[in-house]
This record gives sequence, structure tokens and C-alpha cells, in this order.
Amino acid sequence: KIIVLDYGSQYNQLITRRIRELGVFSELHPNDVTAEEIKEMNPSGIILSGGPNSVYSDDAYTIDPEVYELGIPILGICYGMQLMAYNLGGSVKNAGKREYGKADIEVEASSSLFTALPDHQQVWMSHGDHVNQAPQGFTVDATNPSCSIAAFSDEKRQFYGVQFHPEVNHSEHGQEILKNFVYNICQCSNQWTMENFIDLEVEKIREQVQDRKVLCALSGGVDSSVVAVLLHKAIGDQLTCIFVDHGLLRKNEADDVMKMFQDGFHMNVIKVDAQDRFLNKLKDVTNPEQKRKIIGNEFIYVFEDQSSKLQDIDYLAQGTLYTDIIESGTKTAQTIKSHHNVGGLPEHMDFKLIEPLNTLFKDEVRKLGEELGIPKHIVWRQPFPGPGLAIRILGEVTNDKLETVRESDAILREEIKQAGLEQDVWQYFTVLPNIQSVGVMGDKRTYDHTIAIRAVTSVDGMTSDWARIPFDVLETISTRIVNEVSGVNRVVYDITSKPPSTIEWE
Ligand code: XMP
Repeated sequence: KIIVLDYGSQYNQLITRRIRELGVFSELHPNDVTAEEIKEMNPSGIILSGGPNSVYSDDAYTIDPEVYELGIPILGICYGMQLMAYNLGGSVKNAGKREYGKADIEVEASSSLFTALPDHQQVWMSHGDHVNQAPQGFTVDATNPSCSIAAFSDEKRQFYGVQFHPEVNHSEHGQEILKNFVYNICQCSNQWTMENFIDLEVEKIREQVQDRKVLCALSGGVDSSVVAVLLHKAIGDQLTCIFVDHGLLRKNEADDVMKMFQDGFHMNVIKVDAQDRFLNKLKDVTNPEQKRKIIGNEFIYVFEDQSSKLQDIDYLAQGTLYTDIIESGTKTAQTIKSHHNVGGLPEHMDFKLIEPLNTLFKDEVRKLGEELGIPKHIVWRQPFPGPGLAIRILGEVTNDKLETVRESDAILREEIKQAGLEQDVWQYFTVLPNIQSVGVMGDKRTYDHTIAIRAVTSVDGMTSDWARIPFDVLETISTRIVNEVSGVNRVVYDITSKPPSTIEWE
């Protein structure tokens, strides 16, 4: 196995899944694990993750220096590379200029990490500091205009470092770089699969739940559908699903979901109409984090109400993904935004949580869904966030604004489908930025709302690029929205990648 030491990168669990994808077991450990403890785990390789700090800051995370003496291959990524340079006698410098997003590197020395890969590669950078002097015994393997040491290695000790992020999808040959590390350098072989995951999880759920009852928060999205089916497989009728209509859903969504699970899966699903409850709580609230927390809390209160009606419910199952956890902030990672099912939880709850997907990423969950026999059209639904349209309306949420977003979103979805782009665009929706501007319609001056279109390509939601929707399709969407949605006189297209933006606007 390969262990990853956590220095707080947004991408650290992504590294472990990339390794799992190579069929090799991988897990994340805190950075203060001792060399002695690592020795007991007996890993074939160690990866030091990236992180938001500088190695020179007072509270910088460090490493037990004995780890370098274990004779185990080490790959340092971003902060991990800088830490390695700093510990082994090189130096690290603040670039003065930050570098985010796509960059090109030139591979100059043939280290085992770059075996059989092209000399010129596109990679994904996200850093402020960089290594400006490699430690003794290291060679510089790759360069880039803004950081002269983009990769280095000491083949004798099997220490490797890369300034870029090979684990993210936008690094062109990233997975092959990791493959070189795992297969060639650490000499691991391909033995781990997703079927093992289902068996292990079913067993774990049965053991945990015994003969007690579980409530599942079903949204009809990929994650909660997969959780519901996984739980149904494990504990059958001990499972009751609750579908909350919080009034922040897309057009016709509530009816579609109920039909799918009651008629399609023959599951026990209770629909709760809670539109007024949510809207009342959101009245006058404009802060995005506060909105997310209110919605998260309200969800749980609704579940608590339902469970007290149902009696004897001990567990709440949620489709929390690793992405939700990491972006909500952990001991080492910074909070980007509180996802409703993590940061939004109240401090005191009557339930114990079951979150079988919390080490997985979206595309892994889709694979799991297919493995569980869930129909393709559900498994491949685009993601829809728990707080729903509330985080696509900047500022206060009102019924009128919900109507504007809901109608414009329905038009966007219709036109994307019509153009046959559903499979090409990972996620697409409209946003109400809450700005008004001047327009002219039918010879009259208007002072109406702007609708923004957000459409992205991604694999796991951790990074994304804006989708290149053809101009004529955009034109049709824009014309229809302005003509058919009252109170809108302008449509704009969001052309930012993640990072630096996020996919949702709040
Ligand atoms: P961001 O906006 O963080 O979104 O780039 C990444 C992916 O996560 C979805 N998202 C959420 N999903 N609860 C969810 O279940 C949430 O609170 C939440 N916030 C964002 C988002 O739609 C995108 O697919």
C-alpha cells in the first residue's frame, strides 16, 4: 500500500483515490505520524500532500525527520516537495507571484517519475512558494518559466518532488506520473477493486446497524440514490427514505423523484412538504455561509420531526462525499464553503450518522452506482447541491427569485438536451446574481435582472473548466430566457475555471 501524509491540500484524498484507481490500496494519515508508526504500517511508498502554508511560517506542518531514513520511496507534491527541499538542505522561496491553473513544464532529466512521458507537458499548478535550490544529491528534472524547479529527484534515495499537482485531472500526464511512482518506483501491483468496496461496505453497515432502523435522506441525486440502494442491499426493510421538498428544487423535480423511487425501486419513501418552513428561515438572510447552515440545520430538524413520528430510528444515512468534507474544512484543510450535509449539521443531533461514501469522489460513486445496478440515467444525472437553488440566488431568497432561477434553469436544460450536449457538459445551471441593469424591450426602457449561465466540464467537481458551448446554442438559450422569463433583460456566460472560482456561486 501507499500512504499519503496530509498537509492540508484540497486534493489530498484525491491522491489516495488516484492510487486506488491504479488498483493499489491507499489511505490518508495525519502529518504528525511518527517514523516508527509508518514502519509498522509497512507501506511501499509515501506521498507528502500539498498544503496551504509556507514551510517558513511558525505553525507550518512538518514531518518526523526519521521518515527520510526509512528507506521507503517518497514523493512530495507541492508543499510536500517544498518541505522535502527545506528538510534536506535546499531552499524555498516566496515567488512574489502566485500561479494557479494550467502551466507548461519542460522535462529535462530522465528521472524514473517521467519514464516514457513526453518532454513537454501541461500540468496544473496551485501555489505561492516554490523550491529555488534543490538539496544536495538531487537533480532538477523539470522546469517551468515561473518556477525553475518544477520537479526534482534523488534517484539513489528514491526521493521525488513535483511542484504541480499530478493528481488533478487537468495535469495531462498526471496519472502516468503517479503510475510510474506506484508501479515502477514503489513496485506495487494492481489488486484492489470497486467490488471489494461494496462487499466491505455492506458488511460494515450490517455490523453497525444490527436490527435497528435507518432513515435515509433521499434527494434523488446520484449520491443519495446510491446510498439508498446500498443500504437497501445491506438492511432491506429496516430502511425508510425521506424526501424533503424544501421549495429550492428544480422544475418538476419533486414529482420525478417520487415516481422514480416508489414506482421504479419499490422503496419506502415519505415525501415531506417543507417549502414554507425553509423560506421563512431564509427570510432576510444574505450571507452565503449562513444560508447554507440554515438549510443544513432545517434539513436535520425535518428529519428529527419525521423520525419521532416513525419511532425507533437510530441512524441517519447521508450521501456525503469526500469532496463535501474536504471543502467544508478539516483539521488541516481550510474551509472553502460549508456543504449542507457537513458544516450545516447542528451541534446536538438525535441521530448517529452513516456516511458510506465519505471517502469517495463523484465519479467513483457513479462507478459504484453502476456496479449496484442503478439505471444509467440516474447514475449519470448532473450533480445538484443539497441547498438547491438557494445558493444560485445571490443574496436573499424569495419566491419570485426562485421562480426566475427555476424557469431559466429549465430552459437551459431543455436546450442543452436539444443540442445533444448532456453527456459533454458535466454540470449546467443558471444563477441570479441579484444585479439589475438597463435594457430596452419593445421600445421601452427596462431595469431588470441578469441571469448568468454556469456550465462546466469536470470529472469529480474538485477542479473544473468552463464548457465551450457553441455560440448558436448559447444564443438560443439567451433569447429564450429573456423572452420567456419575466423580469430578465440580460444573460451572461461565466467563463472561469475552478480554481480560482468554485462551480456554484455561493
Ligand atoms: P463547488 O461550488 O464547491 O461545487 O465548486 C463542487 C460540486 O459540489 C456541489 N455542491 C454541493 N453538493 N451539497 C452538495 O450535495 C452542497 O452543499 C454543495 N455545494 C456544492 C456543486 O454543485 C458541484 O457539483
